[in-house]
Amino acid sequence: MQEIVRRADRCRVCGRDDWLDVVSFGETPLAGDFLPPDAPPGAERRAPLEVAVCRGCRLMSLRHVVDPEALFGHYRYVSSESDLIMNHMRRLVADAGLDAGDLVVEFGSNTGVHLELFRRAGMRVVGVDPARNLAEIANGRGVETVAEPFTATVGARVAARHGRAAMVLGRQCFAHIHDVHEVLDGVNAVLDPAGVLAVEVPYLVELLASDEFDTIFHEHLSYFSLGTLRTLFGMHGLRVVDVRTAPVHGGSIVVYAAPRASARDERPAVARMLAREDELGLSGDGPYLEFARRTETARAEIGDLVRSLAAEGRTVAGYGAPAKGSTLLNACGLTSEHVRFCTDTTALKQGRLMPGSRVPIVAPEEGLARRPDYFLLLAWNYADEIIGRERAYLEAGGRFIVPVPRPRVVSAPSAVAAP
Ligand code: TMP
Ligand code: ZN
Repeated sequence: MQEIVRRADRCRVCGRDDWLDVVSFGETPLAGDFLPPDAPPGAERRAPLEVAVCRGCRLMSLRHVVDPEALFGHYRYVSSESDLIMNHMRRLVADAGLDAGDLVVEFGSNTGVHLELFRRAGMRVVGVDPARNLAEIANGRGVETVAEPFTATVGARVAARHGRAAMVLGRQCFAHIHDVHEVLDGVNAVLDPAGVLAVEVPYLVELLASDEFDTIFHEHLSYFSLGTLRTLFGMHGLRVVDVRTAPVHGGSIVVYAAPRASARDERPAVARMLAREDELGLSGDGPYLEFARRTETARAEIGDLVRSLAAEGRTVAGYGAPAKGSTLLNACGLTSEHVRFCTDTTALKQGRLMPGSRVPIVAPEEGLARRPDYFLLLAWNYADEIIGRERAYLEAGGRFIVPVPRPRVVSAPSAVAAP
């Protein structure tokens, strides 16, 4: 493991080496390393998972960086096509205010499923993604995708071939990137002077407020506030002009930035959100240290609840096998002894094991047919959609445990199940 993990002493945004230690999960398996069923013990790649806050720019960050090729060269996370995400994407397309023929460049474009929405609205689209297996799928569906990390060189190459982009989009991948400066150089190499950068990240304030400790894993290097993103973009001549909240991935923000000389006005939402971050004390230590304390409580509560149900002979299964589910099971000390299996819609995950906990992953139909007494909702960020859809399971007496922010059990009011 030594060769693919390194400690990053300097803050990736401001370059300082002055950290407030927040929380440590110890040496943990890489959350996306879904193992084949015959993986020998110890096959999981592990790395320290430690969170700290930069005392300079207040970036919340992991202290260790795993080689991106090891994490993303072959990636098993396929962009969600859930109603929640697709509706969110349609709104992003509608709000983008682009004209037919405009160029949209997305980095971290995964299988191209979201760029396809822009294409259907008449825009020209180019994706950039380091996951070769996913870029192949995207190219297969006709979304031209460069299978490389997004850099100044790649940005310049796209600009030379297709012209300047009216929008550069990075959804739910900015937090995965160590060399954010290189990516912003890439943005500037391809963004039109009148264009806009849109970056969507899980929002630090939501993570802290809802105790989303399971979203901390090696792929998520950075946990951004608007204030820190504004500092970072400013270092590259980009000015934040708007921000919106989005109810995806546990509560996200979409931050819009434009070249400094652009005529775009700054919308009032920007100052409002920055003021709120100040009020919450994000520039002090309190919110982070309180989060760390609550994380310890949550780990114990979730673990105790599931272990006691298993000890009473109830069957518990995981609903969804997201990377954050790997984190949650391992952080709460849960294994296949307590959680029999996880269901997941992703074919690339089915038939494999969750890393560390070694819980087997099955297709949703198979998992539902086994009728566990409880589904631990590892994909809790889709709670409304999933619980709404699984009414039959609930009405037959099944229950969901929603682990975040605090474990709660959901049952159908009319169900006649044992407690
Ligand atoms: P995400 O939270 O990172 O999008 O990952 C969600 C995981 O949960 C992904 O592996 C797909 C899976 N999933 C299901 O199995 N069923 C569902 O209904 C949804 C919405 C997601
Ligand atoms: Zn910093």
